[in-house]
Amino acid sequence: MARRTSVHGEWSSKMAFILAATGSAVGLGNIWRFPYVTGESGGGAFVIIYLICVAAVGLPIMIAEIMLGRRGRQSPLNTMRTLATEEGATPAWQYVGWLGMAAGFLILSFYSVVAGWTLAYTVRTAAGIFDGQTADGVQAIFTSFIGDPERLLGWHTIFMVMTIIVVSRGVKSGLEQAVRFLMPALFVLLVAMVGYAMNTGQFEQAIDYLFKPDFSKVTWEVVLKAMGQAFFSLSLGMGAIMIYGSYLSHTASIVKTATIIAGMDTLVAVLAGLAIFPLVFQYGLAPSGGPGLIFMTLPIAFGQMPGGAFVGAAFFLLLVFAAWTSAISLMEPVVTWLVENRGMNRVKASAWAGLFAWLLGVVSLLSLNVWSGEQFQLFGMPFMDLVDWLTANVMLPLGGLLIAIFAAWVMSRDASRAELGLPEGMGYTAWRVLVRYVTPVAVILVLFNQTGLI
Ligand code: TRP
Repeated sequence: MARRTSVHGEWSSKMAFILAATGSAVGLGNIWRFPYVTGESGGGAFVIIYLICVAAVGLPIMIAEIMLGRRGRQSPLNTMRTLATEEGATPAWQYVGWLGMAAGFLILSFYSVVAGWTLAYTVRTAAGIFDGQTADGVQAIFTSFIGDPERLLGWHTIFMVMTIIVVSRGVKSGLEQAVRFLMPALFVLLVAMVGYAMNTGQFEQAIDYLFKPDFSKVTWEVVLKAMGQAFFSLSLGMGAIMIYGSYLSHTASIVKTATIIAGMDTLVAVLAGLAIFPLVFQYGLAPSGGPGLIFMTLPIAFGQMPGGAFVGAAFFLLLVFAAWTSAISLMEPVVTWLVENRGMNRVKASAWAGLFAWLLGVVSLLSLNVWSGEQFQLFGMPFMDLVDWLTANVMLPLGGLLIAIFAAWVMSRDASRAELGLPEGMGYTAWRVLVRYVTPVAVILVLFNQTGLI
């Protein structure tokens, strides 16, 4: 088969791909979502199950997604259709692309709302409003912030416009430079925060909480949440990594790059946990505090440390950038599809995609305040929680399952081996066994068990 080239171009180097994919993976999922879901799920056992999910389910699927992307070289939808036809399978595989685009939309809608919180907190920390605040004070500030739809709307809108601007200019131009400097900076600041937490917080208690598993707390629900978190954090199951893979050069090693990306993503999540939980215990807060956890813990520290306004503002600003580089990857699959199949230019495509995600985000945002009453709940959850639950715990694992089945059952052994550039041997066989058996069985068991689909 002649090798395809992408009409959307290629990354300037292998490093550029690693940076962009890490930029996609590292985001609010690591620093906002991981700690609070860990807290809600009881700590240690969740963390261990999460790490197992990353290694046994996440990494193999990431390799599969990059492989399919690079072979298809188009939007996820067209890639799936092209590759299915090539293997003599039904073009219905393109529905994986639809599922992915829908999941991307839904995630982007509430992701932008939460990214808006980080924008607001950058300004607030810089202005020193947390200086000398008690834990109660910081909590009250967060509660009143969430209760104010107009503020939330303003920040949500700014963030969505930021995302539209980058995507409309093509993700390959600005992203590389941004990620090259901002990711290391975020990393350094996170390590500094862990150092601070180590000295002033209940570090040992946090270590026990995060790494001493209490398996009596494990339920199917906890396992599902850990798996959903792995998909969410690694950006898997909806075509984001696939589309980035479609811009990857043929000479790059997929297995190596995927391992680096998954490793860095996991490291950042663990560091975030180590920065936050010592403070949670120090100030007597509940680990199960929910989505506000980082906004109710870190500002206490920023309010007490010398130069906290500066450090805090820098931290939230870097978090804004991390969220930005992730949001871009959520929008990219839809935009490439609109360009390929609807003949739109990138600017128009990004504007439409952003507008719809923004509108849906407004519903999420209102579910935090105006529509927070029980009469507005669907399936016993506020709208924002429902969208989060449905995407992370159902749609992404389902997308990942289909991607695994396609890569390991539909695609021929020779095709996948050639695209991965691996010789016959242990490495290739290990990957194939994982995507062929382990991943599908794990996903089916966990997903169907918990959602009652079978
Ligand atoms: N992984 C990102 C985070 O942790 C969010 C994200 C970006 C994502 N692209 C995705 C999640 C694709 C699922 C699918 O914040």
